[in-house]
Amino acid sequence: MNKNILRIAIQKSGRLSEDSLKLIKECGIRFDNGAGKLKTDATNFPAEILFLRDDDIPGYVEDGVAHLGIVGENVSEESSKNVDTVHRLGFSKCRLSIGVLREHEYAGVQDLEGKSIATTYPRLLGKYLESNGVTAQIHEISGSVEIAPSIGLADAVCDIVSSGSTLLSNGLKEVETIFKSEAVMIASKNLSDVQQDLLDQLLFRIKSVQVAKN
Ligand code: PRP
Ligand code: ZN
Ligand code: MG
Repeated sequence: MNKNILRIAIQKSGRLSEDSLKLIKECGIRFDNGAGKLKTDATNFPAEILFLRDDDIPGYVEDGVAHLGIVGENVSEESSKNVDTVHRLGFSKCRLSIGVLREHEYAGVQDLEGKSIATTYPRLLGKYLESNGVTAQIHEISGSVEIAPSIGLADAVCDIVSSGSTLLSNGLKEVETIFKSEAVMIASKNLSDVQQDLLDQLLFRIKSVQVAKN
């Protein structure tokens, strides 16, 4: 693999996609973003952009297949991959929360004892329950988590909340916040000297963009 370029992985489509692309462009990096293309070369910086499922990004960065990634801290933490978080990006803020049916009375975390909770975040949820001394059944599903209580699949959900509209439209209320998240830049631990230098240049540009905005 070419050790003189940076491969930057960003989310193909989802909450982080637009702001991730915008950040790269604001750093002055130009590339041709053809529809449906999953890999593109930058034209004025030694970089390639990969468009991936966000959940896959920490693993690619750990393996060094991508050198940098932009992901939600929620995804990075859940993955527990061995990567460096090199910068907090300040966008795509959200929280990982527990929700229950609106008509359910809820007095506190002890009410979850013995219940089943559907989630895409079994690791973060497991840690939270354990630290609160609660034993519940974690039901891992990969998407459309918020439907679970209304179809009898689980008593509660643990999922990402941003505006809150997904919870609301599925008859749920937010009862606990277990993790606060924003987009972060993660880097592989095995960068070549050239790649580390490129990363430093990129971070310098990102910080300048952030300062200009504040
Ligand atoms: C999250 C979560 C909800 C939605 C909540 O999905 O799974 O579906 O956002 O947002 P809201 O509070 O504004 O309605 P995410 O964008 O992380 O996508 P993914 O789970 O498909 O990766
Ligand atoms: Zn996802
Ligand atoms: Mg979702």
